[in-house]
Amino acid sequence: MRSVKPGNGPKHIVITGASSGIGAALAQVYSASGRRLSLIARNRGRLEAVASNVRVRGAGVDVYVADVTDPNAIERVLTTCDLLQPVDLLIASAGIGGGASLARDCGELGHIAREILTTNTLGVVNTITPMLPRFVARKQGQIAIVSSLAGLVSLPACPAYSASKAAARAYGAALRGLLAPLGVTVSVVCPGFVDTPMSASLPFRPPFLWTADRAARHVARALEDGRREILFPWPLAFAVRLAAILPNALADRLLMRLRQG
Ligand SMILES: NC(=O)c1ccc[n+]([C@@H]2O[C@H](COP(=O)([O-])OP(=O)(O)OC[C@H]3O[C@@H](n4cnc5c(N)ncnc54)[C@H](OP(=O)(O)O)[C@@H]3O)[C@@H](O)[C@H]2O)c1
Repeated sequence: MRSVKPGNGPKHIVITGASSGIGAALAQVYSASGRRLSLIARNRGRLEAVASNVRVRGAGVDVYVADVTDPNAIERVLTTCDLLQPVDLLIASAGIGGGASLARDCGELGHIAREILTTNTLGVVNTITPMLPRFVARKQGQIAIVSSLAGLVSLPACPAYSASKAAARAYGAALRGLLAPLGVTVSVVCPGFVDTPMSASLPFRPPFLWTADRAARHVARALEDGRREILFPWPLAFAVRLAAILPNALADRLLMRLRQG
């Protein structure tokens, strides 16, 4: 896995959801020496494993065990990170999957749906909020919010997940316009299917599956180019855009194919 050289790019990068999947792959991609990475997730063992792989490539790494659904905990961590070295790039990648069944969305009388919304939407808000005044005061900073192509079209197979990602995307898109004149860049990342523990739990074979490394390299390049909306892979992004303009009944029939056989 090749890393992206620091150059004039971000020197201190904070990544939530860094213990696995896309977040862990992003940590690898940004692991060149001269960088500092602050990695956040709940599972210390997995975080430490990612951190040791990053350290051998030269970057300085700190790990923080925190739950993005706890606003106080995440604020404490981000304040510490920013005091140690001003954060240049904040990537909110932590998230949980939506499964693909009615039972899952109704699970424990809506408990699971609420957990998905709390993690994927409020978790993003909790992550971004403490850094906003700091970025604005410095008139610089870059934020990347990992939403999903499921945030562009509502998948009947996973209502709570679709809603959580649509909200995260809308939040990021609005912040983008609000913060651009203040010198802060916001990008929304909308991956299709990426080969991670999350997609491995899907009860169907995900089409156009990318490796986490490929996705992370794509995201890092797009962020370096300052792209504000990062959709991939293009065939799925195109299909999703198309589904969004189809008559509802037809779109629902097509999208229902993405569910348990
Ligand atoms: N994989 C895909 O096909 C796909 C497609 C579109 C979008 N996405 C999005 O990409 C992001 C990363 O997903 P992934 O595929 O890399 O999944 P993953 O391998 O399951 O990783 C999810 C990461 O989020 C962390 N996390 C979950 N809940 C958390 C919480 N409450 N507080 C702090 N950290 C938490 C997990 O760490 P701990 O368990 O250690 O806390 C883990 O590091 C998610 O937002 C996901 O919705 C994924």
